[in-house]
Amino acid sequence: MKKRLLSTLSAICLSASVFGQSDMTQLIKENFDFAAQQYKVLMKNTPADVMPKTYFANNNKLVTSDTKWWCSGFYPGTLWFVYEHTNDEVIKAEAERRLQILEKEKHFTGNHDLGFMMFCSFGNAYRITKNPSYKTTIDTSATSLATRYRPSIKVIQSWNSSKTMSCPVIIDNMMNLELLYWVSANGGDSKYKDIAITHANTTLKNHFRVDNSSYHVLNYDLNTGVVIKKMTDQGAADESAWARGQAWGFYGYTMMYRFSKDKKYLDQAKKIAAFWLKHPNLPADGIPYWDFNAPGIPNTYRDASAAAVFASGLLELGQYVAKKERKKYVSAAEKIIRSLSSDAYRAKLGENGGFLLMHSAGAVPHKSEVDVPLTYADYYFVEALHRYKQWYL
Ligand code: GLY
Repeated sequence: MKKRLLSTLSAICLSASVFGQSDMTQLIKENFDFAAQQYKVLMKNTPADVMPKTYFANNNKLVTSDTKWWCSGFYPGTLWFVYEHTNDEVIKAEAERRLQILEKEKHFTGNHDLGFMMFCSFGNAYRITKNPSYKTTIDTSATSLATRYRPSIKVIQSWNSSKTMSCPVIIDNMMNLELLYWVSANGGDSKYKDIAITHANTTLKNHFRVDNSSYHVLNYDLNTGVVIKKMTDQGAADESAWARGQAWGFYGYTMMYRFSKDKKYLDQAKKIAAFWLKHPNLPADGIPYWDFNAPGIPNTYRDASAAAVFASGLLELGQYVAKKERKKYVSAAEKIIRSLSSDAYRAKLGENGGFLLMHSAGAVPHKSEVDVPLTYADYYFVEALHRYKQWYL
């Protein structure tokens, strides 16, 4: 009993002395209060039957998407986090309305993005409300996603086959494993967990370079499983390190460790974190350029979305390591949160179409969504705020 009391006391002291800065308490509260106000602007701007996607300041145009777009779960997911931390019933009602239009996508099998779409949204809704109908939707979504598993290659196929691609698998796919593993861990069939583990292992074997950065796209031969080509779609070059891709891989392996406790996933997450944190092209404010090898650095775009994903992952990684390492990861996340909360990245109330963050990069080589707000930047930013508050204050 005494031992337990001592360890509880030392945990409290650690929390108070290392992480529990009162200004972080204030910063996080202010961010959630701001988000509740700002998302009411986004809510007013967004028609009832679609989801917000981005906003172009030059012509004051909000761009929306249908619910099949890979980002359709982020707006409702952000609303749930904001509701959780503000108890704002207007925000909750909007979150519920958006789930209603999204729910039909539980049957979608057109690509690998169902984890993003259905777990960031319904996953948070279920976590907060425990409404069993949300769990049913999550379970059905896992069944749909699992149809894309290709046993001959031991991967989930990301995009459909085309004239130039046999079986494309992108590093982003690591994020969709959370839906599968969660379902198995919460009363569902163990086959979903098995698929998640197998996909993570194949990706570990094939997607990474010796410096622990990752390729964006691998084209596997659908019949033989041989890797035909390693390349990029959204990065600067086939051999470059696309920033958000590094963040997806990092977050994905950290999450895989959460469920499996398999040390090789933890090790991989630490290696990716080291690649990122020691990179000579990482700016002092912690917000990366859109690609670590982008041409024109420092005169090129930052990607707030990559920073937000990475910060949220760092906070989870901090849960699985000893004190000294934890301090390193949590401090790095804190720096990102402070930067994203500053005027350099966070919009003013009523501006930015109602999105929280500015300066993300969707697909620079395609000249698409460059230096704009994006729903997933907002989502992982509020998830990072939530995690910091939950674990480190
Ligand atoms: N999954 C697409 C992206 O990160 O842009």
